[in-house]
Amino acid sequence: MNLFDLSGKTAVVIGGNSTLGGAMCVALGGHGAQVAVVGRNSEKSENVVKQIEEAGGVARSFSADATSKQDVSRVLEDVLAWTGRVDVLMNCPGTNSATPFFEITMEEWDRIIDVNLKSVVIACQVFGKHMVEKGEGGSIINISSVSSGPPLSRVFTYSASKAGVNSVTQYLAREFAPSRVRVNAIIPGFFPAEQNRKILSEERIESIMKHTPMNRFGEAEELQGAAVFLASEKASSFVTGALIRVDGGFGAMTI
Ligand SMILES: NC(=O)c1ccc[n+]([C@@H]2O[C@H](COP(=O)([O-])OP(=O)(O)OC[C@H]3O[C@@H](n4cnc5c(N)ncnc54)[C@H](O)[C@@H]3O)[C@@H](O)[C@H]2O)c1
Repeated sequence: MNLFDLSGKTAVVIGGNSTLGGAMCVALGGHGAQVAVVGRNSEKSENVVKQIEEAGGVARSFSADATSKQDVSRVLEDVLAWTGRVDVLMNCPGTNSATPFFEITMEEWDRIIDVNLKSVVIACQVFGKHMVEKGEGGSIINISSVSSGPPLSRVFTYSASKAGVNSVTQYLAREFAPSRVRVNAIIPGFFPAEQNRKILSEERIESIMKHTPMNRFGEAEELQGAAVFLASEKASSFVTGALIRVDGGFGAMTI
């Protein structure tokens, strides 16, 4: 028995061309899933597809703005035309900004909330509806953050958006449970990536390390186990509404 076998399954990863999303796509592909790598930047998505194919897996890139319901609906149609099914949806587009509270413009608020939270709602409506109506179960995995609560300093809007992601996850876990569509979130700690590079000043890195018992950043590959576990019906059939921390102990730290 292979608890983590995803053969014959199709996984759609929105923001699959991100640093963390890319590593999780590679893991899903490596365990047999056909992976739809969805992103705005096709060149970056194609790189992830190439990595999966080089490892003997099957993947295809799909272009979409995750904040557009029209784009995301088109991706559902295109994926169904490709493999005929969707078993796993992972949501990981993301953006961030360290703007002091009184200086946050409503344009910036909208941009961050749209990419981090509205995109999750859109994908859960589009792909969740398909999974619920098809009646064959499924797994939705949202990528949250340690900033979802208690919030980190300096990243107000990001924190509010990720608190929203936890709420959407737990709300839909209840709503979709009768259809055997499981909805969970991964809470990554700190992993150097494009969207947080600007925010990681020397002083901030020092304070992150002080609050991370393992005293280091995570590597994107260290999220692969949690992603495959939650994607696999065999491994996590009784897991829904869970917020799984992969954070080197950050969430367990006091003094
Ligand atoms: N890196 C970390 O330490 C960390 C920690 C916790 C959570 N996360 C979350 O992990 C996820 C992946 O981020 P990352 O750290 O790999 O950063 P990243 O900068 O590598 O990726 C962010 C991705 O989001 C995509 N994106 C932004 N707006 C989009 C849109 N409108 N439509 C489609 N795609 C869009 C970008 O193209 C990029 O590929 C995000 O949700 C992020 O909040 C990251």
